[in-house]
Amino acid sequence: MQLINVAILGATGYTGAELIRLLDAHPYFHVSHLGAHSQAGRTLGEVLPGIQEPLARQRLQAADAPLADDIELVFTALPHTAAANAVASALAAGKKVVDLSADFRHQQAATYAEAYGVAHAHPELLAQAVYGLSEWQAAHIAATSLVANPGCYPTSVLLPLIPLLRAAVVDTTQRIIIDAKSGASGAGRTPKTGLLYGEINEGLSAYGLPRHRHAWEMEEWATALGKTAVEVRFVPHILPMTRGMLSTIHLRGHDAGQWRGLLQQAYADAPFVRVLDEGVLPSTKGVAGSNRCDIGLAYGASGRDGLDEVTVISCIDNLLKGASGQAVQNANLMFGFDATTGLPLHAQWP
Ligand SMILES: NC(=O)c1ccc[n+]([C@@H]2O[C@H](COP(=O)([O-])OP(=O)(O)OC[C@H]3O[C@@H](n4cnc5c(N)ncnc54)[C@H](OP(=O)(O)O)[C@@H]3O)[C@@H](O)[C@H]2O)c1
Repeated sequence: MQLINVAILGATGYTGAELIRLLDAHPYFHVSHLGAHSQAGRTLGEVLPGIQEPLARQRLQAADAPLADDIELVFTALPHTAAANAVASALAAGKKVVDLSADFRHQQAATYAEAYGVAHAHPELLAQAVYGLSEWQAAHIAATSLVANPGCYPTSVLLPLIPLLRAAVVDTTQRIIIDAKSGASGAGRTPKTGLLYGEINEGLSAYGLPRHRHAWEMEEWATALGKTAVEVRFVPHILPMTRGMLSTIHLRGHDAGQWRGLLQQAYADAPFVRVLDEGVLPSTKGVAGSNRCDIGLAYGASGRDGLDEVTVISCIDNLLKGASGQAVQNANLMFGFDATTGLPLHAQWP
């Protein structure tokens, strides 16, 4: 089979680097174009020391450099707002696009403006974007030219939440409390004072308050895909580790004893979602380097109102299932390949 040429715009960032690693080992995709911004003109090897020859010798193109006719697929791993323009150009040139930014994750431009504080540069493209939560949107992803790859925190929260909402066992009369933690790579490679070693090492801090941008995304897609109106209180934290994400979701509802079975049934045919047995809780180590989401449940005593209290813990690698891994999973679906093609199932250990 002839390889499919792909472009990675934002190749020098953390998600771009992970895309390169995955796609260079992929049996059907070939990385033929690397786009950058401040690093344009340098070779990839000068900017990413972990890349092997011959890719390391490839020169980084300017972000707006034209894409060759034989490129069929473009990954945009760019900051939001910059991504919208790159996506519009790629679509106009007839390419399929997987956008890793937030620019096409909301169905309404007004929601995007509220969450991100800027007007959307290409609201006319929102209707054709498919929210790329792979396990729930496979048929739509296969039929579109533009996939909006979900955010990392929303991926970790929506995967356990959607089946429970669909089964109508969760009390949604009150906001769902989500306490989440991410490794520092979640904030990207672009230097920021708050990400210096001396600032985050041996520490833990909350950020994004009073309302982090991903709260809008969680609510929109929990409501749309869970088929129940949902509101969340979401507080993210940054941890002094490189990669990994753990979301603790505090739920109340009924028939808690059935929840694990509901989730196991929902993901019985989903190789990247693992619902753990009773007494087993997930960890960031257990998914680091893999495209998996591991989900664990713990039941508490019923509250005064008789509702069951359930703590759901969900772990992903923010750069894999939370970004580049899910992006490749979506690209597989867009081109009719098995969703698992070229993606790591096992975690690196230790
Ligand atoms: N990190 C994560 O865990 C994660 C998870 C899910 C989604 N995302 C999303 O994925 C996107 C990329 O994230 P990242 O973590 O890879 O970011 P990053 O490490 O900061 O990399 C940003 C990339 O975009 C390029 N760039 C910066 N400013 C640009 C501009 N104005 N125009 C064009 N290109 C520009 C940079 O090029 P130079 O290096 O050449 O300047 C670099 O290649 C973001 O939208 C982010 O929100 C990230």
